Amino acid sequence: MRSYALLVHPSANRVYADASVSLTVAELGVLASTRLEGRLGEASPTRIAGVPYLAFDGDLTAADLILIGDVSTAMALFERGGEMLRPVELSRRDRFDDDLLTILKYPGKTNEVFTKLLLNVTVWSGREREAPLRILDPMCGRGTTLNQVLMNGWHAAGVDVDDRDFDTYAAFLRKWLKDKRLKHSVEINPLRREGARLGRRFHAEVGATKEEWKAGRALNVDVANTDTVHTRAVHQAASFDAVVTDAPYGVQHGSRSGGRLARSPLDLLREAVPVWAEVLRPGGAMGIAWNVRVAARDEALGILAGAGLEPLDAGPYRALEHRVDHAIQRDVLVARKPRPTPV
Ligand SMILES: C[S@@+](CC[C@H](N)C(=O)[O-])C[C@H]1O[C@@H](n2cnc3c(N)ncnc32)[C@H](O)[C@@H]1O
Repeated sequence: MRSYALLVHPSANRVYADASVSLTVAELGVLASTRLEGRLGEASPTRIAGVPYLAFDGDLTAADLILIGDVSTAMALFERGGEMLRPVELSRRDRFDDDLLTILKYPGKTNEVFTKLLLNVTVWSGREREAPLRILDPMCGRGTTLNQVLMNGWHAAGVDVDDRDFDTYAAFLRKWLKDKRLKHSVEINPLRREGARLGRRFHAEVGATKEEWKAGRALNVDVANTDTVHTRAVHQAASFDAVVTDAPYGVQHGSRSGGRLARSPLDLLREAVPVWAEVLRPGGAMGIAWNVRVAARDEALGILAGAGLEPLDAGPYRALEHRVDHAIQRDVLVARKPRPTPV
């Protein structure tokens, strides 16, 4: 076992105030209980020469270090030897420039650091599969999750009922791909099922490199502008490795108003979770961030269990709650879709 010290990115303090360290402890805890089971010890805050770090022991391979590099707040890693700190390279998975994640700013945006945490804990909780994964954000807003999924080099799909969110994201991605001179194709088409018009659909194919584009290894971004309860009409059953979403908080943001958005967050989850569970692969996981001021954790977990999923509700999974503002106390629910038992 080696001893490590992880430097948490100082910008995370702006996002979470005092919670960045405890959330990173919980995020590492999920990693230790999933992908790195038995190889990563419990993390605890420490100070070295007056600077805060997270200390943990581990028996980590090069592949494990890529996962440590994925941790949403990870800035730098050191191996400890007596008084000395030896820098350990954290290879990053990032396939694109990071302004993909930061350019768009708008009221109601889920911050990028939290989005990465939510994606991480959800993906790690599911069965490991060969990349590129396919990830769905069924209430994707202006695409913060979709952009992080692309950054990881995976296929991204989203659904959102809000026309303005759909238009803004489509315009943003089109312009960003052009500005970056990346090989791509983009189209927007009406979305119909059985003769009825459900909304619109945006589809982009993106080459992270010219070679991948030429070799037909483009990444897909697919966004449907429709009510999330129609997700099954857009996507096949068992077609996603993870479903990840930041649910409406039950408070108004600038661009979200009235109409179909007026459904209570809990009613929306009751209707939508069974549909999302259908498009999830057996062994895949669902991660939902939501405001505990609109529904208690147990009530929300009950909805996941009612849809046939297995809630993960022990240890680090119970340590992800944090304050966003006076009206929003956010928590994270994670559940796994069971694999059929062999006969
Ligand atoms: C908290 S926001 C998610 C923000 C997103 N992660 C982002 O950074 O842009 C919740 C989203 O749920 C969407 N939404 C609410 N009700 C919906 C429904 N019935 N079907 C699809 N999307 C819905 C809203 O339009 C909003 O974009």
